[in-house]
Amino acid sequence: MIETIKILTESFGPSGRESKVREILIEMIKDHVDGYEVDKVGNLIAWKGNVGKPVVFVAHMDEIGIVVTNEIRGGFYRIEPVGGVSPYTALNRRYVLEDGTVGVVGMETETVQDAKKNMTNLSFDALYLDTFGKRVDISTFGVYDSYFYQNGDFLVSKAMDDRVSCAVLVEMVRRLKEPKRKFYIAFSIQEEVGLVGSSVLAYPLDVQEAIAIDVTDSADSPKSFKRHPMVIGKGPAIKIKDRYSISDKRIVDKLIKVAEDKGIPYQLEVLTFGGTDAAALMRTREGIPSATVSIPTRYIHTPNEVVGKDDVENTVRLLIEYVRAV
Ligand code: CO
Ligand code: ZN
Repeated sequence: MIETIKILTESFGPSGRESKVREILIEMIKDHVDGYEVDKVGNLIAWKGNVGKPVVFVAHMDEIGIVVTNEIRGGFYRIEPVGGVSPYTALNRRYVLEDGTVGVVGMETETVQDAKKNMTNLSFDALYLDTFGKRVDISTFGVYDSYFYQNGDFLVSKAMDDRVSCAVLVEMVRRLKEPKRKFYIAFSIQEEVGLVGSSVLAYPLDVQEAIAIDVTDSADSPKSFKRHPMVIGKGPAIKIKDRYSISDKRIVDKLIKVAEDKGIPYQLEVLTFGGTDAAALMRTREGIPSATVSIPTRYIHTPNEVVGKDDVENTVRLLIEYVRAV
């Protein structure tokens, strides 16, 4: 599974430009599912099994990024964030664009006063992308130029949000041979710009429940978010609430029961900000009871998102046992 995570996180797929990731995912799952389709907006949906009340597990394919807006002068471009990119995180980062161009983000600074002002209140207005003289087209998308790294139980890469969950779903269908209960796995587009793909993906599905799989803030570094209990290494986090949704209590209770029955470590999550595809799935049609299972992650939305190998493994186990339990 480590190799799957490496391939998926290193591939290029900012919101609205998910096609490469989708192609890779199709190759990874096609021999392990009963069927799949790509819907009109680009969500990838696959299914397996044929009995029972179906559930859909959703992970988003897209990652945060940037898009080139206009040229300042030869080889220097203005950029706009795609999804939640802090200008402080973008500054001095190396980016790779969809045409293969590599560039570095710099900051305009004519005076010491400018520098002070920018460092206390940085905005994309003061940033530019330096492509070292190479011409790029306006509207070209880019992502962090970052590579997968493993140190013991810690896995580090860009786009763990949310390709690590895509890898969980791939691993799930590879391992879950001939399940009794029917289930769907879905890979959504444009989560990072407002839960776009998940707002429509479940409309045509005969599902009774939806579970989003995503990353969550892990508060286990010095002076990390003090009202967050989630930590790396204690298992998948069963979400109680975040800013945009409250998980369906019946699904939460079932997830907890499955984890306890099978001896799978888990933790409970109350996130004081953020949201997942569950918020959109819950609002589908007449309403689909929804919940989220999260993977605790440090440095979310940076080139070095960190997850724990055991947490990923235990997330796969939890979802497999959840399907088997009904
Ligand atoms: Co995100
Ligand atoms: Zn995410």
